[in-house]
Formats: sequence, structure tokens, C-alpha cells
Amino acid sequence: MKTFRSSEALKGALVSFRKKNKKIGFVPTMGSLHEGHLSLVRLAREENKAVVVSIFVNPLQFGPKEDFWRYPRDLARDSRLLKKEKADFIFAPLPKEFYPEDFETSVSLSRLSRPLCGAARPTHFTGVATGVLKLLNIVMPRTLYLGQKDYQQFRVIEQMVRDMDFPCRVKAAPIVREADGLAMSSRNIFLSRTERREAPFIRRSLEEVERLVKSGFHDASKLKQRALEILKLAPHARLDYLEIVDAQSLESVIRLKPGSKILAAIAVFFGKTRLIDNVLIRG
Ligand code: PAF
Repeated sequence: MKTFRSSEALKGALVSFRKKNKKIGFVPTMGSLHEGHLSLVRLAREENKAVVVSIFVNPLQFGPKEDFWRYPRDLARDSRLLKKEKADFIFAPLPKEFYPEDFETSVSLSRLSRPLCGAARPTHFTGVATGVLKLLNIVMPRTLYLGQKDYQQFRVIEQMVRDMDFPCRVKAAPIVREADGLAMSSRNIFLSRTERREAPFIRRSLEEVERLVKSGFHDASKLKQRALEILKLAPHARLDYLEIVDAQSLESVIRLKPGSKILAAIAVFFGKTRLIDNVLIRG
């Protein structure tokens, strides 16, 4: 496994794979890897000849009051984990090289970036799309692997790839959870013991929505009400949003149509730590 800091060096290493038309799989990350990331690397390993993992805490996707500076970083630990998973290349660019002082382009999506996480983080998805398009242009993968936990991010990138005719497939892999149901996240380490004990209620509130839909409830406001009752069992949780939206357009749904694919998505603060989770449901 080789680690590159410069995009030119990585491009050079990938030339021979591209010339021989060998599949390149790409997993973009911000490091601080957990099982969720590693499951993407495993999938990429199964399906490709070369696996590239980027580790870059992308400053563009953090708002001024967000946790860019405290976001956990440990390249040595991440490298050990990736070596075990037989990744071929790590791309860990230096921020000043990735975004030089005269960098001025941004990629923004007008509709998909607005609801859900975009409502409280208005510049977030522009930062994500800009950073990921730049990474894609460097790596030129056959397939890009993302986690379903960041479902809105997946939809934003999937749409961007389609709109910009970028020649790659975008795959979302299932959410990986702790034994008590909490979705794995690099931010879970910031939870106090009490918060960690309460955090699985995020998942349980979504399970309640899923259960109710399966037993015939179709009114989104009632579904949300019931989910919030479950979330109240976590007294330290502060709700950012709980929404039921169309899984493709991310537009709010008032009444679920039979057979339609919806997403129940939630974001919750425990202190300063913001956690997200979601479930895809057939209406
Ligand atoms: O999900 C993440 O870790 C980041 O948003 C990503 C996709 C690596 C872009 O910086």
C-alpha cells in the first residue's frame, strides 16, 4: 500500500491501471476510520483491481462554527487499518496543495442540497460536491463508494456525477451499526457516557417509523409525532430535524403513496455533537 500527498504522484501511480482498463474503486473519507468506512473498502476490494482511499478533512464542507478543528485525525492508525483491508493507495493531500490560495471554483446543487442537513448547514453540500468532484478528477475511478448514513450526500454526489457526465458509477453501501443500533460515526467518540447511552434512541425513533409504515400508517406528520415520542426517551438529545422525504428528490412527503420509496432522516445534537441517521422504506 502506498500513501500519496500529491495528486500528480497518485495520478502517475494509476496510469498503468487505466491504460490496461483495470477497474479502479474509490472510497473518499475524512479519516478517523471505523467499520462503516472499512465495509466500503471491502466492497471496493471485491469489485476492483485497484482501491484508492482518500483521507482529507475537507475544510470547504465545514461552516465557520462547526467542528473542523476538533474533527479527529490519525493518519497512522487509518493507514494500519487500510493496510489490513488491502487498499492499494491512500491519497492524503495537504490542504494548501488541494486548495491553493487562488482556488475559486465551487460546485453547487440547487435543490438536493437545501433540505435536511442543508437547512442548518447551507454551505455544506457545496463544499462536499466541490471537494468530491476534484477528487474524482484526480482518481478517475470506475466506481465511487459512499455510505448510506450520509444519504443526502450520496444523492448530491450521484446527481452531480450524472449532471456533469462524470464517467463513474456511484454505489451506496448499508449503514454499519454498533451492537445497540447506533450508526457508526467518527463523531461518536465525542459523546459522554450518558449521551452514548441515550444515542441509540435515534435509531429506535426511525425503527418506529418503519414499523408504523409497515403496519399501514401513511400520514407523515403522525409518523413523525410517534418517532419524536421515542426520541423523548433520550432527555439529552436536541432535535435538529426529523423528516420524511421522497428518497429521490428529498422533497417532503405529506402522505405516503403505496409502493413509493421514502427516506426517514434524522439529525440530533448531543451537546455540540451532531449525529445523523436514516432509513429507506417502501411506502
Ligand atoms: O463523508 C465524508 O467523509 C465526506 O463528506 C467526503 C465524502 C469524504 C467528502 O469530503
